[in-house]
Amino acid sequence: MEPILEELFRQHRDAEGMLVKLAAGTARVRREGAAGPGVLGELSEIRKDIQGEVLSHFREEELALFPVLGRHIDSSAGPIAMLMEEHALFRQLELQFEEALASLESGLHDDEWAEKLCDAGDAIGQLLPPHIEKEEGVLFPMAESTLEESEWAEVRRLWSEAVEAAQHS
Ligand SMILES: [Fe+2]
Repeated sequence: MEPILEELFRQHRDAEGMLVKLAAGTARVRREGAAGPGVLGELSEIRKDIQGEVLSHFREEELALFPVLGRHIDSSAGPIAMLMEEHALFRQLELQFEEALASLESGLHDDEWAEKLCDAGDAIGQLLPPHIEKEEGVLFPMAESTLEESEWAEVRRLWSEAVEAAQHS
């Protein structure tokens, strides 16, 4: 399999690992409240996973794979458009999660923010698995059967540029 696809599959397994931690974290908030021992620390680790791995994964897909594949399949409708929309929705939920966590960390309105954080966590947990399934079941096989080696080289080049740009931002 094309190494870029292997890497995307690997990143999906990491995202699934994050989802397991996220579900455990929100369950603890519901059980013990945000003031439970180590609860906020656990949530802050999850935030780090999301901000690091998950968001850079999205960026790599959006800046490298999607544009090259978008020359073969319409990207204003169909799978690419739908996946981009889900990325945007995820980013909104992630902001909601971050805002709630930051408020809890500063000791504000515990119950209300705890609920917002759990809602965002639940919504992320519902959004991401079918999203990953669509990419792995539809988009990646499409890319594998459609893209020529020279196009994969372009995906790899765009990918390194995206990684480099992120390091300097
Ligand atoms: Fe993905």
